[in-house]
Amino acid sequence: MREKLEQLKTTAIAAASAAKDAAELEAVEIKYLGRKGEMNSIMQGVAGLPGAERPLIGKLANETKRAVEAAVLERRTELESLAQGAIAETEWLDLTVPGDRPPPGHLHLVTDAVTEITETFAALGFTRVRHPEVEWEWYAFEALNMPGDHPARDEWETFFMDLPAGRQARQGRMVLTPHTSSGQAREMQKGKLPIRMINVSKCYRRQIDVTHVPMFHQFEGLMIDRHVTVTNLKGVLDHFAKSFFGEGRVTRLRPYHFRFTEPSFEIDISCGLCGGTGIQGGQKCRLCKEGWLELGGAGMVHPNVLKAGGLDPEVWSGFAFGWGVERTMMMKDGIKLDDIRHLYRNDARFLEQF
Ligand code: PHE
Repeated sequence: MREKLEQLKTTAIAAASAAKDAAELEAVEIKYLGRKGEMNSIMQGVAGLPGAERPLIGKLANETKRAVEAAVLERRTELESLAQGAIAETEWLDLTVPGDRPPPGHLHLVTDAVTEITETFAALGFTRVRHPEVEWEWYAFEALNMPGDHPARDEWETFFMDLPAGRQARQGRMVLTPHTSSGQAREMQKGKLPIRMINVSKCYRRQIDVTHVPMFHQFEGLMIDRHVTVTNLKGVLDHFAKSFFGEGRVTRLRPYHFRFTEPSFEIDISCGLCGGTGIQGGQKCRLCKEGWLELGGAGMVHPNVLKAGGLDPEVWSGFAFGWGVERTMMMKDGIKLDDIRHLYRNDARFLEQF
C-alpha cells in the first residue's frame, strides 16, 4: 500500500508538470484525483486494512493527495501565466507609433471665395457684419421700399416660416432672408455712422435647378455717409474688379430698376477672355455678350430706405450693391459647372478637384 502511494505520487506529479495545456492538466487531475480516480480507489482500500496500519496509511494517503493537488495547482498557475505571456506577445500595443493621419482636407471653395471677397472690401475699410438669416418680413421688404403685396416682392421667391410658438408677429411674417439687402435697415438702426459694411450671408429662395440652389450666398456692400455719390460707388466697384478679378478689368453701370435704390444699376465687368472687345480670335467671344459679363445689382440708397433705417435723407446718403458669391467665384476661376448643385452635394470626388 505504502509503495503504491509512493508510486502514484511520483507518476501523478510528473504527469501534472508535463501537462502541455489546461486540457491535458485537467485529464491528469481527473485520472488521479477524480471521483473515480486512482487516489480514491486507494483510499477505499484503506478502510479494509488491519486496525494498527489504518491511521498511518490514511495519513500517508492524505499527504499524497495534497501533494498531487499542489502539483496540479502549481502547473495550472504556470500554464496560465504562459498563456498571459503569449497574449502579451501577440496583442501588445505600441503607444509611441504615430497614428494614421486623416487625409488633409481644405476649406470649401465657397468659403474661400467669401474670405477673399471680404478681404478685398476690407482694404477699402468695409467691415464684415452679420445679420439674422431668419428675419422679419419688414426688413426683407417694407424697409426696402416694398410695401405689403407689392408685386416686386415676387422676384424674391421667399420661404416663409411658421412663427415659433408664443412669438407674436411683430413686423410681418418671418422669412428666410431672400437677399442680403435685409441687413441694410438693421445696420442703419445700429446708429453708428458713417457705415461701411460688407454683409456676407446665406440667402434662400424657392428655386432649384442646374443654375439655382435654394440656399446660396450673397454679399452686400453698404456705404452711408454725408455726400456719397455714384462716383464713390463706381470707384469701389472698380477696386473690386481689379483686385478680385485682375488688373485691367473694369466695371460699367447700366441703368436698371430696384425699389430700394434710386438711381439703380446693373453692374457689368469687362470680359477677361476677350478683354472687353467682344471679339476673340476673329470671332464673337464665347464667354460674354459684347465684351461684358453681368455681375449684379447696385444703386444709391432710396430715401425711404434711409428713413426706415432711422436716418435723415437730407443729411445722409449712400450706395448699396449686392450679388451672388457662387456666380462671382465661378466667373473668376473660369469654373464651368454643368450643375451648380454640385457645390452643396458634399461629394469628395467633386470637392477634391479644387
Ligand atoms: N438685393 C438685390 C438682389 O438680390 C441686389 C441689390 C443689392 C440691388 C443692393 C441693389 C442694391 O437682387
